[in-house]
Amino acid sequence: MQRISRLAVPITIVTLVFLVYACATNLPRGVESNPAALAQRAPERSFEHRSDAHAKDMLKDGKQIFRYDTFGSEDFWGGKLRLHDAIAGAAHGGVGPGLTARQALQLGLKVELGALPRILVEAVKGRSVDLGKVDTTLELLRANAVVGVTGFFDASTKRMTAIGIQCALCHSTVDDSLMNGIGRRLDGWPNRDLDIGKIVASAPTLKPFADLLGVDEGTVRGVLTSWGPGRYDAELGHDGKASRPDGKPTTTVMPAAFGLAGVSLHTYAGWGSVTHWNAYVANTQMHGKGTFYDPRLNDPQRFPLAVKSGAWNKRDTPDLITPKLAALHFYQLSLPAPEPPKGSFDAGAAARGKTVFEGKAKCARCHVPPLYTEPGWPMHSAAEMGIDDFHARRSPDQKFYRTTPLKGLFVREKGGFYHDGRFEDLSQVVAHYTRILNLSLNDGEKADLIQFLKSL
Ligand code: HEC
Ligand code: HEC
Repeated sequence: MQRISRLAVPITIVTLVFLVYACATNLPRGVESNPAALAQRAPERSFEHRSDAHAKDMLKDGKQIFRYDTFGSEDFWGGKLRLHDAIAGAAHGGVGPGLTARQALQLGLKVELGALPRILVEAVKGRSVDLGKVDTTLELLRANAVVGVTGFFDASTKRMTAIGIQCALCHSTVDDSLMNGIGRRLDGWPNRDLDIGKIVASAPTLKPFADLLGVDEGTVRGVLTSWGPGRYDAELGHDGKASRPDGKPTTTVMPAAFGLAGVSLHTYAGWGSVTHWNAYVANTQMHGKGTFYDPRLNDPQRFPLAVKSGAWNKRDTPDLITPKLAALHFYQLSLPAPEPPKGSFDAGAAARGKTVFEGKAKCARCHVPPLYTEPGWPMHSAAEMGIDDFHARRSPDQKFYRTTPLKGLFVREKGGFYHDGRFEDLSQVVAHYTRILNLSLNDGEKADLIQFLKSL
């Protein structure tokens, strides 16, 4: 007994020394650790808390940027094109008759209900607001209620001095909850009502475009007014192509900016990632101030105007775009595809159509559920798609179309399907695939397939 207690002290000491040694050396040995990760060790869980908080901040900042950031584009739309002068009209220090609120809504501009002062909402409801007046347009701009457009006003003269644009201009719409064109924001929904060509064409001068394209202003105006609602050409300023071989406009329909998480390549012809395209658009289309580098455009044969303008390697100071790209990217990927309204499709037929989509019709080979595009490299040649290669050839890769993710397809019914809206409705889409994929679907299967597409 005495012997055991005499031994107990040294045994305890040895055990303790061993334990301390084991902790200090982080046994088991032979396991590698990154010193940077070790530096995050204390206090406990601090990095996880930081990343959760970071995600929340990114979402908040990204939403703000997507909706309200002009990236300094007012120096172009206001300073160079003087678009604000055409909106304000001669009576308010601008030129011409000005743009009434009704005309603005008819051009597809949207008004955010939440931004309207209460008194204005009551006045709109009571029909005491005159939509036929330019003053109303200016009042809406002062309230920062026009989606995707910011008016800049001089504090003392109260006159509009410039106008800048945002991503939301083309990639958001409203739910018309107050009246046609006025409602709650729907971010990521393509604005298929917006006649951006006509809006830009109304600017008092189009000289910057005319100089770049090497044509007169009348020609530029003619091209812009030929586009029509829900359409835009994001490549004209680089390749100078204003009409297709078939004489139709070179525009694409506005795509969805929702449901893009998990999709590996973006734009109809797969120019790159979401953030590549965001930098491209903010710098080269919205004419914001920033940095953009894409040496694929430094090709005098294919992109003579990008070479002429230097748009392939743009370096503005200050850079108002690059610091915002991360949050902007994050916000876009957070936007879910909307669910089609109940009753907008026949659920029984859609369930049968799913089997057709995934089986006999071979759609799921490319539109892999639940992303409805291919994980990996979702690109297909024009020949494979059974269509012309005009638009595919305008992209740096020259020959592909990207498998469009199909969730929220119902939102894109207006304006047509495929990059240029060539198919007016889903029955035309299904007829096209029946031909090019050599499908043998009976009328019932085709109808079910259409109901399934409407249910996505
Ligand atoms: C003048 C209208 C307009 C504005 C403003 C605009 N876009 Fe776009 N956006 C388009 C069009 C048109 C396309 C399709 C281009 C193509 O595929 O050739 C597009 C494509 C996209 C895509 C690819 C979608 C897909 O299916 O992969 C994303 C993402 C996007 N835009 C985000 C933005 C962001 C972010 C901004 C602001 C920095 C912005 N856009 C500003 C019209 C616009
Ligand atoms: C070989 C790959 C492939 C197969 C198979 C395929 N698709 Fe597509 N799908 C694409 C590509 C690529 C596009 C984009 C074409 C464009 O924009 O010009 C597309 C576009 C679409 C669109 C238009 C989306 C939009 O917003 O404009 C619909 C709808 C569609 N596919 C449905 C189907 C159905 C239904 C089937 C089966 C019958 C099918 N697809 C089979 C690759 C495929």
